[in-house]
Amino acid sequence: MVGLTSVPKLKLGVLISGRGSNLQALIDATTDASYPAEIALVISNRADAGGLQRAVDAGIRTLVIPHKDFTNRESFDAALDNALCEAEVGLVCLAGFMRLLTAGFAQSWHDRLINIHPSLLPSFKGLDSHAQALAAGVRFSGCTVHFVRPEMDAGPIILQAAVPVHDGDDEDALSRRILEAEHRCYPLAVRLIAEGRVKIVDEIARITAGKFAQTPLLNPLG
Ligand code: GAR
Repeated sequence: MVGLTSVPKLKLGVLISGRGSNLQALIDATTDASYPAEIALVISNRADAGGLQRAVDAGIRTLVIPHKDFTNRESFDAALDNALCEAEVGLVCLAGFMRLLTAGFAQSWHDRLINIHPSLLPSFKGLDSHAQALAAGVRFSGCTVHFVRPEMDAGPIILQAAVPVHDGDDEDALSRRILEAEHRCYPLAVRLIAEGRVKIVDEIARITAGKFAQTPLLNPLG
């Protein structure tokens, strides 16, 4: 056909451990024909992860790789790596994947591995970020999408969204507010990467063109 060229979509591998609401946000984004990425494979380290059904419902291939079947982190990560390579994944998205990955895995997928974390990194790394934010008395918290480096919850920041912390918030209230922001940030971050608009210079991620270019405070909710 004359004048019609189809640009290949970026193939995503999404790693989950639980309910998969961020996976759902990515699934919903990919239902738009113009979205530049598609989910090739969803992997869970737990057979009972609710997110697996979300993938099945969307007709996406799923794989359970139980970490308990492996004697060490290296062999578990090698199984992940094999499955992702076999599915020809171009970008790995950690979406509530609650296993620490080895430095070797992070290096193999350098700049092709991203994570979403429910705080404004570098504050409140690790588990219980909402409780940490409440205990610190911060007035704002939020979420961060970042490239993964071997150190936990570290790496070039692609997007952040801030939300207020209200008097009387408990962990549930704060996590619900942040989760809403996560569901908007993750698909946007993947889109920016798929469109080739994220460049890492000296370990800082820069958005190179379009609406969000040269915005020092990038808050898609703003
Ligand atoms: C999300 O809040 C995500 O940011 C967090 O787990 C939740 C998963 O929810 N991830 C981390 O804390 C990783 N350090 P989901 O399964 O509904 O997407």
